[in-house]
Amino acid sequence: MDRTLLVAGNWKLNPPRAAGESLWREVARACAPTPGVETLIIPPLPYLGLFAASGAPTPGCAWGAQDLATQEWGAFTGAVGGPLLREFGATYALVGHSERRQVFAETDAICEKKVLAAHTAGLIPILCVGETEAERDGNEMFEVLDRQLSVGLESLPAGAKFVVAYEPVWAIGTGRTATPAQAAEAHRFLRRRLVERRGQQEAAVTRILYGGSVKPDNAAALLADVDIDGALIGGASLDAASFLAIRDAARASVA
Ligand code: PGA
Repeated sequence: MDRTLLVAGNWKLNPPRAAGESLWREVARACAPTPGVETLIIPPLPYLGLFAASGAPTPGCAWGAQDLATQEWGAFTGAVGGPLLREFGATYALVGHSERRQVFAETDAICEKKVLAAHTAGLIPILCVGETEAERDGNEMFEVLDRQLSVGLESLPAGAKFVVAYEPVWAIGTGRTATPAQAAEAHRFLRRRLVERRGQQEAAVTRILYGGSVKPDNAAALLADVDIDGALIGGASLDAASFLAIRDAARASVA
């Protein structure tokens, strides 16, 4: 099964406006539509307004949100709902990034609601799952991945489009990437669970991204695996040349 690779840059809470605008311009300009590879930028929220207002056609580069509220509209100070994100051109939303889980105490049950909220608003949820170092060392990795995956997808209707991102917490922002073999083991496990929980057809079309210190020098080896359908990139997405080099690695892997 050929799945379109997704190369997604998660800017997190970076960078300041001037740098962000030029980073966006550089990436969007370089990203012509490429068969087999989709490019996505996931910036802090104010940039969505900027991208939407820029009027510049960016057919090769979409944008998404790092999070969304479980609510749609109303008296929810500080929250941003899926419908508003759609109005500003977002097409994807991350759900349950480990920083949301750890720093903002997001539970699997909240992730379940956010996955459904994204889908209902017409966004494609990217459900992030991943074990901590202690969980890996304690042989709890598969249990954690299974729980995060199954609870997160529990309310999502059959046939809905979604993406999974495997991000081992110990590899995020640490420079310690999972080896291709470690990543492949987790991806195969997740794919098997998707078959069991969502059926063969959905499991076959669903992309599973790897995230955690993806850099230009390790991207090709990771993307070579048949079950790794793209990358979620933090640090390296803040440098246009690095991000585009990873995208080039994805293009080469489908060529
Ligand atoms: P990193 O972040 O590439 O800086 O490790 C990945 C992520 O958190 O999505």
